[in-house]
Amino acid sequence: MIKKVAILTNGGDAPGLNAVIRAIVKTAENNGVECYGYIEGYQGLLKNNFIKLESKSTASGLLHRGGTIIGSSNSTNVFQYKVEENGKIEYKDLSDICVENVRKEGFDCIFTLGGDGTQKSARDLSLKGINVIGVPKTIDNDVAHTDITFGYNTAVAVATEALDRLHTTAESHHRVMVLEVMGRYAGWIALESAIAGGADVALIPEIPYDINKVAETITKRRDNGKKFSIVVVSEGAKPKDGEMVIKKVLEDGKGLDNVRLGGIGEQVAEQLEKMTGMISRTTVLGYVQRGGTPTPYDRVLSSKYGAKAMELALNGTFNVLVTLTNGRLNYVPIEDVIGKNKEIGARSGGTELTNIKTIKQTDDLIMVARNLGINLGD
Ligand code: F6P
Repeated sequence: MIKKVAILTNGGDAPGLNAVIRAIVKTAENNGVECYGYIEGYQGLLKNNFIKLESKSTASGLLHRGGTIIGSSNSTNVFQYKVEENGKIEYKDLSDICVENVRKEGFDCIFTLGGDGTQKSARDLSLKGINVIGVPKTIDNDVAHTDITFGYNTAVAVATEALDRLHTTAESHHRVMVLEVMGRYAGWIALESAIAGGADVALIPEIPYDINKVAETITKRRDNGKKFSIVVVSEGAKPKDGEMVIKKVLEDGKGLDNVRLGGIGEQVAEQLEKMTGMISRTTVLGYVQRGGTPTPYDRVLSSKYGAKAMELALNGTFNVLVTLTNGRLNYVPIEDVIGKNKEIGARSGGTELTNIKTIKQTDDLIMVARNLGINLGD
């Protein structure tokens, strides 16, 4: 029988984190289990910094609330922790401290709410004897073995609203409007919002683009009387024979994704303006996509994931990731999710190095986009 559990939220935040926390806490309380929350993800685990979560006090009013009430860290890798000593940077494996902290406090299970990086550390902790249960979070929707991550639906809704708004101004001024959205190495947000928002072009990391083909689509539209065009570009999109646009390389530590993307939208807009002669403008949607209130879909999905995660813990099923497969709640060994993910943030999915879920050429969304006449840059 489990008695005490803890939750941590790690990596970039996503709408629905608080709703998952709420569902875990409520399910725990209904089964006589005490629930705690580590402050700032793996940082809290390392520093043994946590609070008690109770639906009557600390964990109340959470369903609609964006962000995470227990904070998050996306620059902490306890297995290669960056330490500065006498002006020298060293990377130390401090994971044993985390293991000791969990044992000392008597936590029977740690719920790790996060994406592939978070789940990799969770798997590594499970190999040291800690019970973990992962919950797939990220607006990018790139976690392997689940149909959908929580936060993604909200990000698509935000991007779609932006496209609706860009549409009317593009039409008024006869402009090409480029919208840069998040997604890193997977184009889910770009492709779904392009379909939902009626875009003419969608450039995604999975299909390196030919700018000539994009310009052709836009000039053809103009020649046919449509004097404006809408282009959605994923931050990780890259031209054929070209590279992704990196805004900054961070020095947060080994085993973390130290690359900050951004700038591809501006690049595409400038090229299109030159090639088509049409005025082009860029909007970078940025963090608006992951802040704020979750959609009803994400509230329900987060509630499902949280309740299922706690149910699994009650049944003694550990070291798994809660998933949604073919519309049903399910779980897979956490090992399968990270696969051979030895290098966080390796530049593409489904390789030896990373197991993130990218869009396959055979995905329905690609077929739909092509049939709707959305140019995918190829
Ligand atoms: O993983 C979600 C995400 O929003 C990516 O799409 C984006 O590249 C990244 O986080 C940026 O996060 P941060 O600036 O917090 O590191």
